[in-house]
Amino acid sequence: HPGAEKWVPQQGGMRKVRAELGNCRGCELWQDAEQAVAGEGPVRARMMLVGETPGDHEDKEGHVFVGPAGHLLDKALAEAGIVRSEVYLTNAVKHFRFERQGKRRIHKTPAASQITACHPWLRRELEIVKPSLVVVMGSVAAKALLGSTFRVTQERGKRVELPSGLPAVATVHPSSVVRSEEFRRDFERFVDDLRVAVDLLG
Ligand code: URA
Ligand code: SF4
Repeated sequence: HPGAEKWVPQQGGMRKVRAELGNCRGCELWQDAEQAVAGEGPVRARMMLVGETPGDHEDKEGHVFVGPAGHLLDKALAEAGIVRSEVYLTNAVKHFRFERQGKRRIHKTPAASQITACHPWLRRELEIVKPSLVVVMGSVAAKALLGSTFRVTQERGKRVELPSGLPAVATVHPSSVVRSEEFRRDFERFVDDLRVAVDLLG
């Protein structure tokens, strides 16, 4: 598989990106998913939040963060004083990766090759939105944006920079909070990281 590069329109804005995304054959993930899920939010957003991949709900509904992880994210954003409709929300990989277990579709973490293949879409979103700050949620987004040696658990909740120099804050993925046995503590830490992002934006 060649990677997404040749499907990513370099002319035109987000409308064009959204129109072309579903045609992408940059890796094998398009074959089993229902649809590609595009990022959402104002193209002039100052904050961009990057997750992993669409989950089961997102794949069916065609929108980012509408399942359990999305509900948790909604609560955390509200607690941190971030208005969801004012930020740009997207994923490092645009098609759902899963394994069938009977009738259920179980999420699988995207492979490094798929993260790399899908990166041109994320790069184009960054070019178009030009956020002032990126919130990197979880290790897949960190791999895509901060490199394979970056450790979210060690570097979370503080100002870091993308290779381009763009300020960023890394944190865990909201689905890890959903599953946490220490929910209250991990939810608060997630909100704290989002507050760091708010403070950095000024
Ligand atoms: N998890 C993600 O990373 N993105 C979504 O859109 C939903 C769940
Ligand atoms: Fe293209 Fe990304 Fe979907 Fe792979 S996951 S087919 S690279 S949009």
